[in-house]
Amino acid sequence: MLSCTEYSIIFLSIFLIIVVRAINYSPRAILNVYQRPNGLFWVKTCFMYVVLLARKLKKKNSHIYLELEKPQTLSYHDLPIDGVYFNGASSNGDHLVVGTARRKNNLIDAFMYIKINASEFGLLETLKLPDTSLYQDETKEEWNVEGIKITPVEAMKKWDVYYDGKMKDNKNTKYDVKLRASWTTNLPIFNFDHDMDPWAMAKSMAYETWSKEYFKNLEENHQTHYEQHGQLEGVVTVNGTDYKLDLNTVRDHSFGVKREWRNFHRYGLHFFSAQNGDRFSVGMICMPISFSRLTMGYVYSKEDDKIYPVSDCDLQLYQHGENAEPPKDYAFSFCAGGKKYTVQVNVVDCPYFYLSKDWESKVVERLCKFKVNGVEGWGAAEWQYRNIQGRFVNK
Ligand SMILES: *[C@@H]1O[C@H](CO)[C@@H](O)[C@H](O)[C@H]1NC(C)=O
Ligand SMILES: *[C@@H]1O[C@H](CO)[C@@H](O)[C@H](O)[C@H]1NC(C)=O
Repeated sequence: MLSCTEYSIIFLSIFLIIVVRAINYSPRAILNVYQRPNGLFWVKTCFMYVVLLARKLKKKNSHIYLELEKPQTLSYHDLPIDGVYFNGASSNGDHLVVGTARRKNNLIDAFMYIKINASEFGLLETLKLPDTSLYQDETKEEWNVEGIKITPVEAMKKWDVYYDGKMKDNKNTKYDVKLRASWTTNLPIFNFDHDMDPWAMAKSMAYETWSKEYFKNLEENHQTHYEQHGQLEGVVTVNGTDYKLDLNTVRDHSFGVKREWRNFHRYGLHFFSAQNGDRFSVGMICMPISFSRLTMGYVYSKEDDKIYPVSDCDLQLYQHGENAEPPKDYAFSFCAGGKKYTVQVNVVDCPYFYLSKDWESKVVERLCKFKVNGVEGWGAAEWQYRNIQGRFVNK
C-alpha cells in the first residue's frame, strides 16, 4: 500500500508534467504562416484582454474627426500612406469601387471600377489597370489624380466623388466617362483603433510569439483606419448616355507613417449591405509580422441603429485559395452584438489589380451577391495576396 504522502507526490508530479508540457506546447504554424494556439494561448488572451479593455475605457469619447477627414500631411518615411476608398453596390447589380492612396513623390495608388449591370458594356475600369501607379502632375495635398477626384465636403456626412476621363471594358474598348456623385450618411463611424472587440483582438494577438520586437513592430506598423457606411448617389455619363447611380457604399480613410505592402501575406475582406438595411464589414487579415490571423469587422444593425464589433469569425484564409485563386462560392459565420450571422458569398465579377509602385501586392476586387441569414445582400469581397514577382508577374 502507498501512503497518503506517496500518493500526493505521484499526483503532484503528474500535475507538474501536464503544466510544463502545456506551457511548452508550441505547434508548427499552418503552412508555416498561420500561427496556432500554443500552450499559453488562453493565458495570453486573458492578459491582453485586460490590457485592451483598460485602454478602451481610457480612450473613450476622444474621437475627433474634423481634422481626420482631410488629406493628412505625409510622413517622413519612404512609404507613407493617406488613402480613401469607396465601395458601393446595389440590389440591381450595379457597383462602384474607387481607391486613391497618396504615397511619396506624387505617386497615388489609384483605381476605379464602375459596373452598370443593365448596360451593354458591363464592367468598366480605369485605363492603366491592373497597374495602379498614377502620378499627380504637381504635388497637391488632395485625393486627385488622372481624372479621379475625391473631396471631403462635410466631416462624417458628405464626400464628392468625381471622374473625368477614359475607361475600358473587358474587350479593351474605350469609353468617355464622366462621374458626378455625392456620398452622404447619418450612420456611425467604426474606428479600428478604439472600436474593435477587445476579446477578438486579444485572441488574435495571443496566436503570435511575444517579444520586444513583436510589440515594436505593432507600434511601427500602426495605422489609423476608420470606416463609415452611407449612400452614393449621382450620375455617370458613358459615351454621352447618362446612367443613374444609387449605391449602398462604405468608405474608409487610412493613414499612417508607413504602409509596407510587402508585410501583407493575405487578406479577405467583405463589404456588403442587406435588403433589411443591415450593413457589414468583416474579414481576416494575415500580416505575419503583426498578426497571422486578425479577425476584423463590425455590423451596423438597422433594427437597433447601432454598430457592433465582430467578436468571432470562422473564416480561415488558409482554407480558401492560398495559391492566389480565391473561391467564388463559399460561406462563413461570425458573431457581432451577441448575434450569429452566416453569410453566403457568390462572386459575379473578379477583376484584379496590383499595388503599389513595385506591384508588391495583388488585390482581387470581387463584385458579389451575398445572402446573410437568408436575407439578400450586395457588395464586394476584396481578397489580397502578396505578389513576390512584382512587375515581372505574368499578368
Ligand atoms: C445583371 O444582369 C444580368 C444580365 O442581364 C442578369 O442576369 C442579372 O440578373 C442582373 N443582376 C441583378 C442583380 O439584377
Ligand atoms: C465611345 O466614344 C469613343 C470616342 O470618344 C469611341 O472611340 C468609342 O468607340 C466609343 N465606344 C463605343 C462602344 O461606342
